[in-house]
Formats: sequence, C-alpha cells, structure tokens
Amino acid sequence: MAEREPAFVRQQSIVHVPYTLCIMNTVLITGGTGTIGRRLTQLLLQQGCTVTHLSRSPKASSDGVQTYQWNVDTSELDPRAIETADHIVHLAGAGVADGRWTDARKKEILESRTQSTALLAEALRSTNHHVKSFISSSAIGYYGSDTGDRPLRENSPAGSDFLAQVTRAWERSVDPIADLGIRTVRIRTGVVLAKEGGALPKLAQPIRLGVGAPIGSGDQYISWIHLDDICQLYIEAIRNEQWNGVYNGVAPGPVTNADLTSRIADVLEKPQILPNIPAFAIKLLFGEMAITVLGGSYVLNKRVADETDFHYKFPDLRKALEDLLR
Ligand SMILES: NC(=O)c1ccc[n+]([C@@H]2O[C@H](COP(=O)([O-])OP(=O)(O)OC[C@H]3O[C@@H](n4cnc5c(N)ncnc54)[C@H](OP(=O)(O)O)[C@@H]3O)[C@@H](O)[C@H]2O)c1
Repeated sequence: MAEREPAFVRQQSIVHVPYTLCIMNTVLITGGTGTIGRRLTQLLLQQGCTVTHLSRSPKASSDGVQTYQWNVDTSELDPRAIETADHIVHLAGAGVADGRWTDARKKEILESRTQSTALLAEALRSTNHHVKSFISSSAIGYYGSDTGDRPLRENSPAGSDFLAQVTRAWERSVDPIADLGIRTVRIRTGVVLAKEGGALPKLAQPIRLGVGAPIGSGDQYISWIHLDDICQLYIEAIRNEQWNGVYNGVAPGPVTNADLTSRIADVLEKPQILPNIPAFAIKLLFGEMAITVLGGSYVLNKRVADETDFHYKFPDLRKALEDLLR
C-alpha cells in the first residue's frame, strides 16, 4: 500500500448549509440535459438563479429553462446564450461509456469536448458579453485510468492512455478562455453516484437481482462523489471568486470496487455470494473501454480540503448509498 493521507473530511458537527448563489445571475449550462446538468439546473433554480441551456436539441430542457441551440460540428452557436450569461458551466461531451471505443467514437468523445470549448471561446471573443466565470468539467481520467493505490493530487502528472489524452486536451482547450481574462475553473470530476445515470444504477442492478459481484480483482479504487456534492462544488466554483484552476471533484474517501459492491449489497439488503467477474470477460465485452471498470485511481480532494471551506453533504459512502438507493 502506498503512502496514505488522512481522509480530508470536515467535522461532522458542521451542518451542511446550501449556499445562496444569486438572485439575479444567469448561469448558462452546456450539456444541461445530462445527469449532472439536470440536478445542477434544479439546485441553481432553487437558489434563485436564472438558468439557460446550450443544447444540440431545441426542446431538450426542463420547464423554466430557456434553451439555446448549438451545433459543434458546424460551429454554430446562438449568440444570445453568451450575451445573457453571467457564468458558464461547460458539461457537454459525448458519453465516455456509451459505446465501444471505435476510432469514430474516440474522435467524438474528444472533439465534443475540445471543439465545443473552442466554439465557446470564439463566441466569447466575438460577442459583447458580461461573463464572469467559466467552469469546465474535466475528469479524474486525467491521471490515467489505472493508477493503483498511488494518491493523486491536482499537481500529480497526467497519464498517457486515451482518457488521459482526452482530459488533457479538454483542459488545455479552456486556456484561450482564461486568456480573455475570464476566471476559469476545471473540476476533475470523479465517479458521480446518482439515482439515474452514471455508474451506480449499472452496479446496483445485478446486485438487486442477486447476481452482483466485484469486477476483476475488485482491488481497483473508485474515487466517487454524490451527485448533490459535485453539483454544489460547481456552484461554489461559480460563487466564490477565489476558486481558480484545477480541483479534484471527489468525496474525501475513495473505496475499492469490492468495498463499493459489498456496501451496495448491504444497503439493498441483498447477499453478495458470487465470485468476482473475471477481467477477461469484461475485456471481451467492452474491448479497450474495459479499462474504465477494471482500472481505478485513488484521487484526493486536496485543494477543496486545504483551500476552501466546502462542506460535503455526503462525505460518507454508506449515507450516500442510502440516499440514492432507498
Ligand atoms: N457522470 C460522471 O460520473 C462523470 C465523471 C467524470 C466526468 N464527467 C463529465 O462531466 C460532464 C457531464 O457529465 P454527465 O454525467 O452529466 O454527462 P451526460 O449525462 O452524458 O450528459 C452530457 C450532455 O452533453 C451533451 N452531449 C452529448 N453528446 C454530445 C456531443 N457529441 N456533442 C455535444 N454535446 C453532447 C448532451 O446534451 P444535449 O443533448 O442537450 O446537447 C448531454 O446531455 C461530461 O462531460 C462528463 O464527461 C462525468
């Protein structure tokens, strides 16, 4: 086991109070129809913000949200989205686990992030706007998909596999926006646990059916975060002008795949009796993409813990799972 740092968790006696972000501010979200975007939209609306979306589809968003359209492939973007925004949260990107990694799919995963950021940068350059901050999603895949139990902080080196290359290019594509004098934040998002969407429903379904088992060795670390906490991190990044640069968006304590599987089984009150699913079967099913479940990384919430007063609502995995699965 490599050097271990204390879990960066704040005193449990501190009550989590949702921040009030704004009464009049308008937050433009790209990819606002996705798992994180939908919840972020709800939370921002609850806090009195105006939320707008930039979407490929004109009617994709929920009630109370003005949707503007863009087309990354043809470099089209409705300028009203930029003209009306005080802050931009950039979440758009083709789903990394939505299909086998063919060359065409890999290109889409990369370009839906980098070209979309370039399109936003160009719009910010050429439009009369009053945007104060640009908060971009990134991913802990930056460090590499399989880094064992080596603790990873924001200043740890980037990996070299496909997802690491994508996230590096994605983060670099934000630089021209910082060069325009706009405060930029990149949140290296961990494995987001949500009721719908993302990894948790896929992990929980076989366990509900009584056929759940750890994947591969089961020793790979999962640096998770509850959906509400990642959304509050985004909100804090908008609200707090001190936030700048890169932050790991993870909960204070990563767990192994075997731990996570058994805790899900526990919360669902299901037995977990099957042996691990062998790595070769996963590789046969998923090809190169298998690394996203067979690999793992031990990512620390170093900057959030050391430099901010952010309080997690769900620092504890069991409580997060009880909230999401019951
Ligand atoms: N969820 C996680 O565990 C996790 C972990 C690490 C990083 N992230 C990153 O955080 C961001 C948001 O995650 P999420 O889970 O909310 O994603 P999601 O549910 O897959 O939603 C992403 C949104 O991006 C837009 N989009 C999809 N394909 C696109 C394409 N080819 N070109 C342009 N836009 C496209 C879609 O919005 P429209 O249809 O409205 O255009 C979609 O709703 C993503 O970039 C993701 O990579 C997520």
